[in-house]
Amino acid sequence: MLELMGEPQPILEPLTPAAIFLVATIDEGGEATVRDLLADMPGLRRSVGFRLPGAGLSCVTSIGSDAWDRLFAGPRPAELHPLREFVGEHHRAPSTPGDLLFHIRSEVHDACFELAMVIGDRLAGAATIVDETVGFRYFEQRDLLGFVDGTENPEGTAAIGAALVGDEDPEFAGGSYVVVQKYLHPLDEWRALTVEQQEKIIGRTKLDDFELSDEDKPADSHVAVNTVVDADGTERQIVRANMPFGSVREGQFGTYYIAYAATPSVTETMLSRMFEGTEEAAYDRILDFSVAVTGTLFFAPPLDFFDELPPPPDAETSAESLPRNDVEMSAVAGDGSLGIGTLKRSIP
Ligand code: HEM
Repeated sequence: MLELMGEPQPILEPLTPAAIFLVATIDEGGEATVRDLLADMPGLRRSVGFRLPGAGLSCVTSIGSDAWDRLFAGPRPAELHPLREFVGEHHRAPSTPGDLLFHIRSEVHDACFELAMVIGDRLAGAATIVDETVGFRYFEQRDLLGFVDGTENPEGTAAIGAALVGDEDPEFAGGSYVVVQKYLHPLDEWRALTVEQQEKIIGRTKLDDFELSDEDKPADSHVAVNTVVDADGTERQIVRANMPFGSVREGQFGTYYIAYAATPSVTETMLSRMFEGTEEAAYDRILDFSVAVTGTLFFAPPLDFFDELPPPPDAETSAESLPRNDVEMSAVAGDGSLGIGTLKRSIP
């Protein structure tokens, strides 16, 4: 499968101690500046990261559905669409705006912060950062509910199959669909439960992180609800990289949920089961202690996408969006969708 796909962005990295999640919306007229930033992202990551050996700085850059059409002409990832909201009888997952997602990870916070600052500078006047979440690794990779989070993530080739687009969409093979959601936990209510009650809600033991047996695991536990199996019995998986975040002053304690998938339909099935219920469960009991406040779907193109961005939409008519340098010029000419005659006429 690997030979068929473009090199992916650093999606399948192990959890790091530090992360920053930036979600931005593109201002009207900001498209050209955003395109410049996207083309520069791999280089900017190298410039910041190379000075900090051992920091393992990485950034996965992803683009939302509406933004895709504002930024690029030509084909779009087959399954990219705005995330719908999920409304159950008891809980609701909102769909919130987001054109760009920067998932910045490192062993150290200063590396994440430096890259976030560079991105913020480059977006100034062209896009608005609508959410900035500083994530941190908590004891033994636990979430703020106190449970180890990430254990059952697929590994190796299973992770590649779960997270990366394959030859079903060859143009975008090596890319990945990303869902992010910010959840807030009413920790006082959670702490009022016994450990045994908490374990029934998650579906695993708290101290040593073993899955409860089928007899002990309620159908509305988080693990039971999120075990999704195809008609042929194959388990459908996603790659999660959740991080805790919080503010003591504001009494805000949360989980930044982020999941990469080869198709958004798997993540959406899980969200539907969590919020709208399954045959055996009205909803996922974790939601009684986790309130979703954001929710957006993006696409993380493979790395070489950034080397040669598709031409902007309406490039033939918009003087502003014409290529400004040789690299963009050759990218546009190579696409075949633009008449070279038009370009020759328009470029001084
Ligand atoms: C498993 C926490 C949201 C999908 C788990 C586990 C924990 C956890 C502690 C068990 C250990 C593990 O395998 O990772 C949380 C928290 C969330 C959250 C605190 C937010 C409040 C979500 C959402 C989805 C999801 C929104 C999907 C849309 C999964 C899946 C598993 C899992 C697929 C593995 C199930 C299995 O096969 O055992 N989560 N989760 N989680 N979670 Fe979540």
